[in-house]
Amino acid sequence: MSKILVTGGAGYIGSHTVIELVEAGYTPVIVDNFSNTDEKVLQGISSILGKEVACYRVDCTDAAALQEVFAKEGGIAGVIHFAAFKAVGESVAEPLKYYHNNVAGLVTLLQVMENNKVSNLVFSSSCTVYGIPENLPVTEETPTQKANSPYGNTKKIDEEILRDVADSGNYGIKTIALRYFNPIGAHESALIGELPLGVPANLVPFITQTAAGIRESLTVYGTDYDTPDGSCIRDYVHVVDLAKAHVAAIKRLEQEEAAAYEVFNIGTGQGSTVLEVINAFESATGQKLNYKIGPRRAGDVPKIYADVTKATEVLGFKTSLSLEESLASSWAWQKQLETK
Ligand code: WQD
Repeated sequence: MSKILVTGGAGYIGSHTVIELVEAGYTPVIVDNFSNTDEKVLQGISSILGKEVACYRVDCTDAAALQEVFAKEGGIAGVIHFAAFKAVGESVAEPLKYYHNNVAGLVTLLQVMENNKVSNLVFSSSCTVYGIPENLPVTEETPTQKANSPYGNTKKIDEEILRDVADSGNYGIKTIALRYFNPIGAHESALIGELPLGVPANLVPFITQTAAGIRESLTVYGTDYDTPDGSCIRDYVHVVDLAKAHVAAIKRLEQEEAAAYEVFNIGTGQGSTVLEVINAFESATGQKLNYKIGPRRAGDVPKIYADVTKATEVLGFKTSLSLEESLASSWAWQKQLETK
């Protein structure tokens, strides 16, 4: 069973991808510095799988420690790189922390992969590289723009590094970059999900914490945008569908015809406004949500959603879970958290 190194594998998307890798017959090996997750996630993974997954507490900027993992494990067939900081607001306040972790971490990983002749890499990128798109839905050919935060800029820079590495022809590394839209939801077991460390910045964890009474009320950041109901539009994709896209990308890299660098949008292809998400949550869960309308949030993209034709045609990607099902799974996870 091919061994796949999953950096950030104890995180939200990483843990769901570890499950899907095992379901697809791979052997995942987790590398995580646990700076933004909890060891309890490993218990959730082993409860779902009925077995432990190898895990190393390693920071991807630590070349020696990373090299030790490659040497100890041996025979690593590919890497999925999730490990990165992702809080937009924090990145504005502490850009150096973000450039070190998100950019130096990738460069270190690439060097260790090259030294160990490991060629296949799936990279966790983001729709944030599109900035404020002129046309919708966005395709992979939509020009990327200077991102509106250091976080987004690290993703743009990382993509450029990976493209340069591929174009040089001097490294044995093939990469697929997956540009995520908005991951939401949790595994059907409710044993893993989006871990809320601190006050959530993202919409769906804030919704579920408000419904659970942890937060007083949700503030909708602006209803004066040029959208059907005035609130922002995003493309909310279930984290399990997103996890399956990573398995499809690993499989693609194992095929000869994969180019040295390919990019795919991973979303549902549907846009939903904030108010539509609130309504969908209420109808999916029967929970009345306490919310109020507030001012716009600085840096917000008014509307963005994906054209997923390329991922559908090349990776065989398809979304199987609806917005309502995704929100119901987020609520089940929130309720299970309270029992912990
Ligand atoms: C979604 C919508 C808010 C909270 C995220 C991640 C970012 C990147 C891209 C990975 C927006 C509105 C939110 C709230 C609200 N992810 N909102 N009240 O902004 O698309 O960015 O995806 O690369 O790291 O943050 O997602 O969930 O923060 O916001 O009205 O309390 O919900 O204005 O329109 P966003 P989000």
